[in-house]
Amino acid sequence: MCGIIGYTGVKPVCPILLGGLRALEYRGYDSAGIALSGCTLATVKRAGRISVLEEALAAGAAGEKVESACCGIGHTRWATHGAPTDENAHPHATPRLALVHNGIIENDRALRRELEAAGYTFVSETDTESAAKLLDSIYGACGDPVAAMLGLDGRLSGAYALAVIFADRPHEIYAIRRDSPLIAAQSPDGVLLASDIPAILPYTRSYYRPDEGEVVRLRADGITFFDANGEKTHPLCTVNWDVEEAERGGYSHFMRKELGEAPEGVRRTLSPLIRDGLPHFGMPLLDDLHEKKGMRIVACGTAMHAGLIGRTYLERLARLPVAVEIASEFRYRDPIISADEPVLLLSQSGETADTLAALRLAKANGVPTAAIVNVIGSSVAREADAVMATHAGPEIAVASTKAYTTQAAMLALLAVSTAYARGLIDEQEARARTDALCRRLPEALEETIAREAELEAFAARLAEAEHVFYIGRGVDYDACVEGSLKLKEISYIHSEAYAAGELKHGTISLIEPGVPVLAVSTDPAVAAKVASNMREVRARGGEIIAFCTPATEADIAPNADFCMVLDENDTTLAPLCAVSALHLLAYHVARLRGCDIDKPRNLAKSVTVE
Ligand code: M6R
Repeated sequence: MCGIIGYTGVKPVCPILLGGLRALEYRGYDSAGIALSGCTLATVKRAGRISVLEEALAAGAAGEKVESACCGIGHTRWATHGAPTDENAHPHATPRLALVHNGIIENDRALRRELEAAGYTFVSETDTESAAKLLDSIYGACGDPVAAMLGLDGRLSGAYALAVIFADRPHEIYAIRRDSPLIAAQSPDGVLLASDIPAILPYTRSYYRPDEGEVVRLRADGITFFDANGEKTHPLCTVNWDVEEAERGGYSHFMRKELGEAPEGVRRTLSPLIRDGLPHFGMPLLDDLHEKKGMRIVACGTAMHAGLIGRTYLERLARLPVAVEIASEFRYRDPIISADEPVLLLSQSGETADTLAALRLAKANGVPTAAIVNVIGSSVAREADAVMATHAGPEIAVASTKAYTTQAAMLALLAVSTAYARGLIDEQEARARTDALCRRLPEALEETIAREAELEAFAARLAEAEHVFYIGRGVDYDACVEGSLKLKEISYIHSEAYAAGELKHGTISLIEPGVPVLAVSTDPAVAAKVASNMREVRARGGEIIAFCTPATEADIAPNADFCMVLDENDTTLAPLCAVSALHLLAYHVARLRGCDIDKPRNLAKSVTVE
C-alpha cells in the first residue's frame, strides 16, 4: 500500500525523505512525491518509480529548497481512486498546506460537493484531495493546527494515516491516524514520522505508536500527542530486529532471502513456547482451548492459508472443530458467533484492514479473540484479547513465505497442546511431537530449500505455461492452495488448486496435452487415491510434477513425469516442507519469466484498505 515518511530536524530533509520512500518501496506503489517546508511550500510528485521523482528534483523541480529545507513529508501512492498520474500522486497541496494520505476516505464524494460549493476546485480524482481541502478550510478558520486536525478527524469516514505540513509552521509536521498504521520516532538529529518501521531504522530503533484519532505534532526537539482532552503520553516501543534483517544481504530478491529464513523463524517462534519439553503458550485462551466447543480462524490471503493447514492439524490431532474464514467475507456475512468459540486472527503485518475489522466484530459480539502476528505493536496485536508473536523477522517481499511457515508451525504446536490437554495423546507422544516441531521441522525445511537446483529444473518446465493446476488431498490440498497463490501472485501464470478428488467434477475438462499439474502427496492414508487422480490427469495428456515422501513414493512416483521425494515422512512436517518447495518453485518460475518478484504488479505488502 501507500507509504508515508516525514522528517523535521537539523539535516537537509530531501535525502531523508527519498531514503525513507525507498525503504517503503516494498509496500507497493505506482507514484511518489514530496513536499518541503518553508513559508511557501514546494511540492514535487511524479507517476512511476522513485527514480522519476529524483530526476525531477535533480532537474530543479523544487528549486533551492532541495538543499536547504530541513522539514518535509513524502509519500508513495498505490492507486485506489484514480490512475497513477502526476496529478493523483501525493502530496495534495493548497497555498496553506501539503498533505499525504494512506488509506481511503469513504465520504469523499459528499465532501467534494460541499467543498466545491464553498469555492474549492479539484485537480485530481483522489479521495485525498478532499481531505486536504477540508483541512485547508478548517485551518483557515481556526488557525490552530491541533484543533484543525482534530476537526478534520471528526469529519472524515474511512481509514487514514495523514501527515501535513503547514506553510506558516515551517519546522513542524502534524499527523493523525485511524485504522492505518503510523509511527513517530526521535533521532539525535531530528524527529521522523513513517507508516512502517523500515523507514526509521537507519536513524533509530525506538518509536511511538499514536492511538486512533490522536494528533501527533513533530518538532525538531520532540514529539507531542494530543487528543480532545489535551496532551497524551505513550510508551516507547523498540524494534526487535536488525537493519540487516530488513536488507537483501546478497540475495537478488527479498523473497528468496526470506523463504530461506523460514527454518530459523520456526526455531525462534516455537522455542519460547516450550516448557519442560511440552507446549506452554502462557495464555489462557490458547492453553485452555481444549475446553472450547470449537474455534474460528479469520485471516486473508496466505495467512488464511496458514489457517487452513492449522485447521487440519487441530481437527486431526485434537478433534477440535475449526472454521477458517476469509476476513473480508466474515465481516459482512452476519456470522453466528459465540463466546465458546474463540476467534483467532492470523496476520503477518497485523494491519490488514479486513482482519482488523473481523477482530472488532468478534469483540463487539463478546467473543474472546487471540491473534498470531509477526509485527508486535501492530493494530491487530494491540486490539486482540491475547497475542502470540511469530518471530519470523521482517518480511519485506510482497509474497509472504516465512510468515506462513511460522504461523502454521505455531498452529501445529497448538494442536499438540490441545490434543494432550484433551487426553487424545499421552505425554510421551506430546513430547515427541513437540520435539519434532521445534527441532526436526527447521532441519527438514533447510533440507528442502537446499534442493533448489531440482526446483529450478521444474521451474524451467513451468515458465512458459499459461495454466497450472495443483492437486492434493487433505493437508496436501491445504499446501496446494498456498503454492498456487504464490505462483500466480509473482509469476502471473494462471493457476488453480483443486482437491484431487474434485477434479473430475468439472475441472478435468481443462486438462489437455502438456498442461502442467503439480501433485502433492505427503499423507500415506490417501496416497493411493491421489495416485488414481494423477492417472486420470495423465490419461488426458497432462504433465505431472509430483511432491511426495518416502512413505508415499511407491504410489506417487510411478504416476508422475517428474518427482521430488521430500526427505520427511511425518505427516505434520512434510506438508510444510512441500509448501517451502512450492514457494521456491514459484520464485524460480517468476525469475525465469523476468517478473518483478518482490513487488508484483497491482499488489501491496500490507493491505490497509478493504
Ligand atoms: O499481513 P497479513 O498477513 O494480514 O496479509 C494478508 C495477505 O494480504 C497476504 O498474506 C497476501 O495474501 C500475500 N501477498 C500473499 O503472499
